[in-house]
Amino acid sequence: MSLNVVINDDVALELLTSRNSKTQELFKYLKEKGVNLWYPIVSAPDLCEKSAEQSEGSPITSFFDSVKILSAIGNHWKRVPETHPHRRGALISLAAAELPGKTVIWSNDSSFESLVNSVSVVNSDGIKEWVEQGDSQVPFIDLGYQQLIMREELEQRIFSVLSHGQYILGPEIKELEKALRRFVGTKHAIVCSSGTDALLMPLMAWGIGPGDAVFTAPFTFVATAEVVSLIGATPVFVDIDPQTFNIDPIKLEASIEEVSRRSDLRPRAIIPVDLFGLPADYVAIWDIAKRWNLPVLEDAAQSFGALYHGKRAGSLGTAGATSFFPAKPLGCYGDGGAVFTNDDQLAEKLLSIRVHGKGKDKYDNVRTGLNARLDTIQAAILLTKLKYFAGELEKREKVARMYSELLTGHVKTPHVPDGLTSAWAQYSILLKNEYEREQLINALKKDGIPTAIYYPKPLHIQEAFVHLGYKMGDFPLSEDISKRILSLPMHPYLADKVEYIAEKVVKCVKMVRGK
Ligand SMILES: Cc1ncc(COP(=O)(O)O)c(C=O)c1O
Repeated sequence: MSLNVVINDDVALELLTSRNSKTQELFKYLKEKGVNLWYPIVSAPDLCEKSAEQSEGSPITSFFDSVKILSAIGNHWKRVPETHPHRRGALISLAAAELPGKTVIWSNDSSFESLVNSVSVVNSDGIKEWVEQGDSQVPFIDLGYQQLIMREELEQRIFSVLSHGQYILGPEIKELEKALRRFVGTKHAIVCSSGTDALLMPLMAWGIGPGDAVFTAPFTFVATAEVVSLIGATPVFVDIDPQTFNIDPIKLEASIEEVSRRSDLRPRAIIPVDLFGLPADYVAIWDIAKRWNLPVLEDAAQSFGALYHGKRAGSLGTAGATSFFPAKPLGCYGDGGAVFTNDDQLAEKLLSIRVHGKGKDKYDNVRTGLNARLDTIQAAILLTKLKYFAGELEKREKVARMYSELLTGHVKTPHVPDGLTSAWAQYSILLKNEYEREQLINALKKDGIPTAIYYPKPLHIQEAFVHLGYKMGDFPLSEDISKRILSLPMHPYLADKVEYIAEKVVKCVKMVRGK
C-alpha cells in the first residue's frame, strides 16, 4: 500500500534545526517503513530562508535529498476559497490529494486545516499510529507505490510532452524505440498501440489469412488467438507442458504434421506464449519451425525483461510482441505494445502497417494497415519507467524466491528451467483441486490478501472460438491447470509482505487437507 506523509513547514523546521529529537526519530521511522515523504513546493523557498535564519549551515540539502517534492498546479490555487483562514495549508492539501495511495499531512500547527476529506492532518503524536493502520493492506500489484518512487521524473516527462505538443509520433517515440532496441538486443523495436496490435501486425505483414493455420496454446489470454481469427486465419491449439504451462513442443510438431495432411488448412506460423513471464522452450520450437519453414511470433506480452540463455524475451522469435498494459512487468498508463525483430523487411512493413499502410508518406497507402501508433505521452512514461526496470526485475526475482522458499512442499510452486529467468508477471501456484483453490481464495480474502485466476477457462472452450469445433477434453492439461492455478500478489515492492502471505497460504492449505 502506498503511504504518503506530506511534511508541513513547522515539522520541517523542527527537523532542520534539530530542536526536537522526537521529530528526528519519527522521520527516521517513516523512512525505515518505506513511507513516501513529501515536501510541498509551495513551502520550499520559505523553508530555505527560515532554516538559514535559524541555524547557520543547516542541513537543508540533505533534507531535500530525503524527500520528494510535492508539486502544485495552477488549478489548485483557483480552488482555494478567498476567505479560507489558512490558504497555504488548503493549497497543500489539494496537492496532496493528487497522490495515489493514502495520504496525510504531518503538522503540529493546530491552525492547519485540510480542504480535502481524504487528506487529514496528523500531529507527531498520531503519525506512527496512522502508518501502522495503513500498512496492513496487500495490493495485488502496486502501481501507486511504483508511481510515487518516480513521480517527479514522470511529471517532468509528461509536462515536456505537453510543452512540445507532438502528441503523435513525437521525439519520445524514437527515443523509446532506441532504448528498447538496446534493452532487448534486436535490430528493430517498433512501438505500437497495444500488445494485441503487436501480435496482429507481424501476422498481417506475413500475409497470413484464410486457409492458414497458426499454432498456439489454449492456456493464454484471448488476444493471442484472437488476432489469428481477426485476419481470417485459423488458430490451432496445442496443449501445454505441465511444468512450465507453455506450449508443449512434442505436441506442437504432432499438430503441425496433422494439419499438413489436411486439404483445407496449411501450417503458416507458430505463436508460443511466455506465460506468466517465463519464456517457452525456444530451442525445441525453433527446431520444429525450421523443419517446417514457419515463422515464430513470440508472445512476450508477459515476459518483457525475462532471459532465455542470455537472450532477452522479445528477441526469441522471428518477431516478438510485448504489451505495455499497466499491469505488465513494464507497463505504461494506458494501452501500449512493441514488436521486436532483426528482419529489416519485416520492420519496414510493420512501420507501414502501424500508420494505415503508408508508403512514402501517410497519404500514399500501399497496403491495408491500422492506426496502431503508441501515444507520445505513453512513450514518455515508459522512458521514465525503463530507467528503474532492471532494478525492479531484481526485486521481482527476490520476491519470487522468497515465495518459493516458503511455499515449496505445501503447494506446487513455479518451475523455472536452468538458463532461464522469469519476468514474474505473475507468481502462480497450483493447488490440488478446485475445492482447495476456492477455500484458499476465500481465506486469503478474509486476511486482506487478493488473488487472481489466470485463466479460469482455456480458449478452446470459449464461446468466441466455438466455430473451431473443439470440445472439453481436447486439451486435458490446460483444462486441469485452469481449475487449480492461482496467482498471488506480485510486484517489485512486495518483499516485506511475502512472509505474511506465505504463512496464510500454508495455514489454509494445511487446514483444508486436515493436517
Ligand atoms: C499473453 C498475452 N498476450 C497478449 C496480450 C495483449 O496485450 P494488450 O492487452 O496490451 O493488448 C496480453 C495482455 O494481457 C497477454 O497477457
